[in-house]
Amino acid sequence: MYESFFGLEHPPFQISPDPEFLYPSRVHEEALEHIRFSLNHFKGICLVTGPVGSGKTTICRQILRELNPEGVNHALILNPRLGEHELLQNILSDLGAPLQSDEGAAQKLQDLILELHKVGRHVIILVDEAHVMPTESLEVLRLLTNLETTERKLVQVVLFAQPEMEERLKKESRLLPFRQRILVHCRLAPLRYREMVAYIDHRLQIAGAADEVRFSMLARRAIHRWSEGVPRLINHLCDKAMLSAYVRQDHRIHFGDAQRARRDVGALL
Ligand SMILES: Nc1ncnc2c1ncn2[C@@H]1O[C@H](COP(=O)(O)OP(=O)(O)OP(=O)(O)O)[C@@H](O)[C@H]1O
Ligand SMILES: [Mg+2]
Repeated sequence: MYESFFGLEHPPFQISPDPEFLYPSRVHEEALEHIRFSLNHFKGICLVTGPVGSGKTTICRQILRELNPEGVNHALILNPRLGEHELLQNILSDLGAPLQSDEGAAQKLQDLILELHKVGRHVIILVDEAHVMPTESLEVLRLLTNLETTERKLVQVVLFAQPEMEERLKKESRLLPFRQRILVHCRLAPLRYREMVAYIDHRLQIAGAADEVRFSMLARRAIHRWSEGVPRLINHLCDKAMLSAYVRQDHRIHFGDAQRARRDVGALL
């Protein structure tokens, strides 16, 4: 809406998890490095936890972009409330196997993984929102990571979850074997003030001609305080503050614009 006024080619603060806009803050870069390490060294299960809106799905999509289609077959589970059988079906179909309705899905998947290994292909399963995955389905994933040769595991699993997953793994005794197989764990955290400033500039740069947009220091401080450094809330506030400056036909975003944004965003904060 305000893009052309500010000389931008794209909306800078959309809330979709678009890796094109990824800003490599300390925690996001660390998470990416942990996942790459886990995948490159065949560590089995890797867990990334982070509060709502902190960038988990964005990181997941970035990792997907980095997977080499020449050597990797991957499954992406976006709706992990699936029971065992549906989960197996989903993985099978993502890995390229024809759908099958009978109860032999677990064996079929195991055979497929071994076949893929024989032709030198890696299998990676990514699960977003893993904190809501039923225990039985987590158990299915654990059993898949038991498949291994003497040198390496045949299936790599990367889970993205809200912090409550950590509690769940500690409390549910049935999940103890799963927990013990998580060799790589990292946590996303909110952005610090300086990181948020760089984050805002980065998104504006990717969106086009950022030089036309200037957030005043007071506006930035307020946005950081109200968002508590959570990227999704930063996006909401910046978007509404830019809209407010646009309505005033001013390229500079003042504290008053941030205040108006806060009122608009209201219940989300
Ligand atoms: N490092 C980052 N660089 C650029 N944008 C980011 C970054 N981290 C988060 N965002 C942006 O913040 C918003 C929320 O990110 P995302 O959807 O990935 O969070 P999430 O942790 O998956 O949230 P939820 O817990 O609700 O699933 C998105 O618009 C995303 O693009
Ligand atoms: Mg998400």
